Order: sequence, then structure tokens, then C-alpha cells
Amino acid sequence: MSADFAIGIHDLSVATTQYVLTHETLAAQNGTDVAKYHRGIGQRSMSVAAVDEDIVTMAAAAAAPIVARHAADRIRTIVFATETSVDQAKAAGIHVHSLLGLPSATRVVELKQACYSGTAALQFAIGLVHRDRSQQVLVIASDVSKYELGSPGEATQGAAAVAMLVSAEPALVRIEDPSGMFTADIMDFWRPNYRTTALVDGYESISAYLQAVEGVWKDYTEGGGRALDEFGAFCYHQPFTKMAYKAHRHLLHHCGRDVDEADVARAVEPTTTYNAVIGNSYTASMYVGLAALLDDADDLTDQAIGFLSYGSGSVAEFFAGTVVPGYRSHLRTDMHRDAIGRRQEIDYAKYREIHEHSFPVDGGDYPVPTETAGPYRFDGLSGHKRIYVPR
Ligand code: COA
Repeated sequence: MSADFAIGIHDLSVATTQYVLTHETLAAQNGTDVAKYHRGIGQRSMSVAAVDEDIVTMAAAAAAPIVARHAADRIRTIVFATETSVDQAKAAGIHVHSLLGLPSATRVVELKQACYSGTAALQFAIGLVHRDRSQQVLVIASDVSKYELGSPGEATQGAAAVAMLVSAEPALVRIEDPSGMFTADIMDFWRPNYRTTALVDGYESISAYLQAVEGVWKDYTEGGGRALDEFGAFCYHQPFTKMAYKAHRHLLHHCGRDVDEADVARAVEPTTTYNAVIGNSYTASMYVGLAALLDDADDLTDQAIGFLSYGSGSVAEFFAGTVVPGYRSHLRTDMHRDAIGRRQEIDYAKYREIHEHSFPVDGGDYPVPTETAGPYRFDGLSGHKRIYVPR
């Protein structure tokens, strides 16, 4: 049953890492034609987390400005979505809750389902606000994507966090019913507990994603969703930005439409600008796409945006959101451009050193020197505990 009031995204904030590796640097190292990265997969650079950064520090950096703007007294729940969890038991959101000094009367939980779980978090948040419209939910999606050195996935790495405040009468985007859902048991991308890098069958994952596009659209349409032509833009999960183009072409084909490349670009290009330079941020990726769209596109007031969230394994969901009049005065465009623009470019040797870094697992004290210029840092390990501090 729909609520008789609007529920959706009231505030949206993106944070990323201290470092950036360009695809020129990667291509020069591995002998790839850089055009494959720039044009073939649509990636220009990737965010690289310093050793004193992780999903928690990025998440806290993304969420802090939201708490500063809205205060915390209505935030009763934090839902933290990630597939690069830092602990098998404790929710990463508790570290964020602590760093931000949030009230003890808060529910905190972590969700996982590959790149999809940020959307599960958003939908669960909507359910909570539906039950009590006075409450707000802090939804955080934060990931550091990591593939083996020299593997095809390496060029699609990246890292970012998105924090969203979900509330009644939102200032940015109203999220609508229905959702179209799709689940299929596929091993296209996964990461066993004993590995730090993901395993992926890249071509299998692309075809699983496209199969999911058909599945969610069927369920969405059968549920009485909007017609294709009603959407002003489409925000797809972007493991690499060209995937959004592939997915949209596939949807058009599936709906029996002619595929006009200019129309495809109009529908998805504005959602790709941040992801092209950040890389894959897994759970955060689609919402980084939304941030880019809201920050960069011409006035979107009252336009419907189609969201297609895909997580390998696989679960997908399609839903619509409508952009709220006056949304522009609530955006954080300068902050987002600054977070991306102030990253420090690193050479291949530094990237490799970070990629290969790991901590001993003997429970000793392993402090980490300060590298990040972000507001929160991972200070090291002690007695198997992760220590986080404001910088
Ligand atoms: N100039 C321009 N384009 C070039 C090129 C060049 N010199 N060389 C290759 N390309 C194009 C290819 O034609 C291809 O485009 P297409 O998909 O439109 O045909 C694209 O660049 C990628 O080339 P490909 O040979 O397929 O790359 P790859 O074997 O390295 O694999 C992925 C690409 C995406 C499968 C790989 O990066 C991967 O596994 N990524 C991680 C998993 C993932 O992101 N999955 C997505 C679903 S969640």
C-alpha cells in the first residue's frame, strides 16, 4: 500500500578517496591501448583508497555533512550497504555512528548483496518512514572495489561512498511504487571470505546484467509501472560507464524500439560523469550516477528518473523517482566536484604498493601513518580491533 505522503531522498552526499590512478598510467604499465579504457569501457581514472581509508572513513565523510545540515534527532536508523565489509560480525555503520556522535537510540545494520544492496537499504528505509513519517533513515552505500593485478577487472576498480537521508516529503527525489524485481542464481561475480579480491566472469556478468534488465522491466510493467517514454533519464548501476549504455540499448531493443544512439546518450550520459573518473564503487555506483545527474543536468524538476540497480549473483530492481521542485538549492555539487578534483594522482608503483598491502593477522599493534586529507581516518589495528579517528 502506498503512503499518502511522498517518501524519498531528502539529501545526498558523495565522498571518495585520497588518491586517483589514471587509466593512462595503467595503460602505459600494462601495454593496453588507452582507447580501450576511455572509449571501450568508458573509464578515465579510478579512486584508490589510501591505507588509512576504507568503507568506514568514506562513509563518515559522506554522512557528516548530512548530519551537520539536518541534525541527528530524527535519524533512528542507519542502514549500511557494502560488499567490502571490514568485519564479519560488527556492522560498519556502528563505526560511523560513533565517529559522527549519533544518539544511542539508533538502530544500525549492514546489508549485503553485491552492488544491489544500496537499493535494498533505500527500500527498507522507505518502509520505515512509511511506518512513522517523523523518522529519518540514514542510508549509506560504501565500497572499495578490488580485482587482481593484471586481471580484466582491474581497469574497473574504484571507490566511493554515498550517504542519503530518506524522509517524508523529500527535497530531492520522491521514490515511487512499484518496483520490478529479479533474482537469478548465477556465479558471475563473487568474493569468498578468504579472498581480498573479487572473482568475476566479466562476459557472464554482462549477460547476467542484461538478463536482469529484461526481468525487472517485465515485473515493473506487470506491476503497473510507468511507460518507457515517461522517463527523462535512466540511472543504471555502472561497473564501468559503458555498461549503462549497453543496458539502455538492451532495454530499448527489448521494448521493440529502434535504438538511436543520440537518444541513448541523452538518457544515460549525464549519469556517468562522476563514475567515469571514480570507477566502480559497487553499492554506491548507481547513487553516484544519481548525484552526477542531479548536479550536472539541466533542470530536471518533475521529471521521472528510471533506476536500474543490479548486483551480481544476482538481484536486480527497477523503480522510478520523480525530481522535486526546488531540488537544486539542496544539492552538494561544489562539494562533490571538490572531492573528485582534490584527489592526488599516484604513479603505478604507489598504486601497486597499496594494492598489495595487507595487515598481519596476529592481533598485534599496527598503527597506520596519516595519508588521507579526509575528515576521518583508519588509525590502525590493535588487538584485532579496527581503530577509527577524526583526522
Ligand atoms: N579502442 C576502443 N575500444 C576498444 C579497444 C580500443 N583499442 N579495444 C577494445 N575496445 C572495446 C571492446 O570492443 C569492448 O567494447 P564492447 O563491449 O562495446 O564490444 C570494450 O572495449 C572492452 O573490451 P574487451 O575486450 O571486452 O575487454 P576485457 O576482456 O578486458 O573485458 C570487462 C571487459 C568489462 C568484461 C572486464 O573489464 C571485467 O571483467 N570487468 C569487471 C566485471 C564487470 O564490470 N561486470 C559488469 C557487470 S556487473
